[in-house]
Amino acid sequence: MPRPKSNDKPAKTPPGKIMLSEIQEQPEAIARLLDREYLPVWEMAKSWRETPPRFIFIAARGTSDHAALFAKYLFETMNGIPVGLASPSIASIYRAKVNMEGALIVGISQSGEAADVISVLQSAKRAGVDTLAITNAGSSKLAAAAHQVILLHAHPEKAVAATKTFTNTLASLVLLSAAIGDNTRLLAQLQRVPQLIEAVIKDAAQIQEKVERFRYLEECVVLGRGYNLANSYELALKLRETCYVRAQAYASPDFLHGPIAILEKGYPVIAFANKGVTLFSVLDVILQAKARGAEVVVIGNAPEALASADVAFTVNVKQTVPEVISPLPAIVAGQFFSETLSVLKGIDPDKPRGLHKVTVTL
Ligand code: AGP
Repeated sequence: MPRPKSNDKPAKTPPGKIMLSEIQEQPEAIARLLDREYLPVWEMAKSWRETPPRFIFIAARGTSDHAALFAKYLFETMNGIPVGLASPSIASIYRAKVNMEGALIVGISQSGEAADVISVLQSAKRAGVDTLAITNAGSSKLAAAAHQVILLHAHPEKAVAATKTFTNTLASLVLLSAAIGDNTRLLAQLQRVPQLIEAVIKDAAQIQEKVERFRYLEECVVLGRGYNLANSYELALKLRETCYVRAQAYASPDFLHGPIAILEKGYPVIAFANKGVTLFSVLDVILQAKARGAEVVVIGNAPEALASADVAFTVNVKQTVPEVISPLPAIVAGQFFSETLSVLKGIDPDKPRGLHKVTVTL
């Protein structure tokens, strides 16, 4: 038997290598999702095209819950279907019997192991209500609990911080919205997303080069509105879990209703600002924050907002990007920011302290 040589030890993966490669896989992962799920989702939505659900109720946790927040704006705006975000304890702990007649109940979990999310689907199914699971794990308990499944096809995600499963979940929701609304224009817009993300990846150095300035960042707020509100929550979570930064997300108008008092000279404010009907309102908050001396970081494609920033992370400024799909490339810029900052701070974003890939809550 050969004696182990001293250099036979398994090579240590450099900090952040897994998260970085999963960020870079996103164009391919979304293209795969669209390729594999386009026909099944269009077929699945046939009955909902004829009789749309009376409302959609979504259960999810963490990053998946942020995708659910995006879905609220998406289905209400594009399909006119009201969306509620579930409090899973209503089913899992209170065991309440809520009247869900005519609804579509959606559970989102990349791992498919979220017990409380599963209990929402199980109780809906027992009541004879339509259920749908959106997951990256086809043989998971979540998939088994639902009538229908949309698979994310993101391939296994190993870094604790979710990246590609988030964008694939957003893409699957846009696909479902297009299928329910028979909206081929939205579908065509969605098909451009892999290219748009590819452009963010090619341009990642402009983000990575500016991160040194944030080495000692301990606290910040992250703002967004409408379709981009979910991104604020998602980036704040990424900054908390991978950089241990106390990041708090707000809808930009909510920020004006009290929290803005926190601002003082140099306080970091990160804002998602993409072209679209919400831009004027985000811009207004950016200008108010600047007037109070905040250090403003803008992520997005809106030139006027980027020009007013102290630090600008530009995303697809040369392309025309409809607001509805703008969160997908924009969050990729946020993912690069979090990953680079984490490594700069001496943290391994692939394995943040005390966290596991799957967190099961009841
Ligand atoms: C995401 O970066 C987190 N690690 C975490 O919030 C995660 O999204 C959450 O635990 C939900 O996981 P699931 O999608 O597998 O249910």
